[in-house]
Amino acid sequence: MSNTALLPTPLPQQRVGDLVRERPLLGRVFDGLGIDYCCGGNRTLAGACAAADVPLVTAIGLLSQSDGESLTASEADWSTAYLSALIDHVVDKHHRYLREELPRLAALLPRVIKAHGQQHPELRELEQVFGKLVDELTTHLLKEEQVLFPAVKQLEERRPHESTRQVSPSLSIHLPIGRMEDEHRFVGGALRRIRWLTGDYRPPQDACSTYRVLLAGLHDLEADLHLHIHKENNILFPRAKQLWIEIDTGSIPIEADR
Ligand SMILES: [Fe+2]
Ligand SMILES: [Fe+2]
Repeated sequence: MSNTALLPTPLPQQRVGDLVRERPLLGRVFDGLGIDYCCGGNRTLAGACAAADVPLVTAIGLLSQSDGESLTASEADWSTAYLSALIDHVVDKHHRYLREELPRLAALLPRVIKAHGQQHPELRELEQVFGKLVDELTTHLLKEEQVLFPAVKQLEERRPHESTRQVSPSLSIHLPIGRMEDEHRFVGGALRRIRWLTGDYRPPQDACSTYRVLLAGLHDLEADLHLHIHKENNILFPRAKQLWIEIDTGSIPIEADR
């Protein structure tokens, strides 16, 4: 009898979304390498490296260096926590961060353009892309908080005799999740464009301190959004879809009304 089923999956064949789910701080390594682990979380490490034009050996070396760090110190194990706890965490930490940070960065941009727009015409496109990102995120957060997240919480907190139809009669959970994933892809594309327009967030030699603060803030925004979208795309959404299927197909028994 073969015992191959007992062998662990080789690192190059592991999915980058799974790697970050198990060790959240690896997201920083992937951010530094320009590897997409949130919308592209289904790719294997080898595939993600090829897409980002990063030598596989370089990525494996950096991931190995991170082995000794306390990689889960600041994060709970969201793969087993209640979905309602994960949702509250996403809203309290990541949505709140965006609501504070987006206006701050939006206020810095015109000041930087006024001082440096002539020498750095790419700042005009940066302002446009950032504006579209803000518009998209503003409605995206509301859709999650007002439609999808309450539906997921209701599903998890449903009374034992309720079916998915009673929890959400007109809507499969898959439809709003698909829409949120589409919007995440838009956000991911905008972040890649911002990274390109800012030369990987490196301040030019003539940058004033406001310019540097703006670039540092955009860099932090990218890191937080990658982690935020990773938690939704690779943990919350698959678990919510699985819960829906289990209830819908009767894997979780529905008790008859008394
Ligand atoms: Fe979110
Ligand atoms: Fe989202």
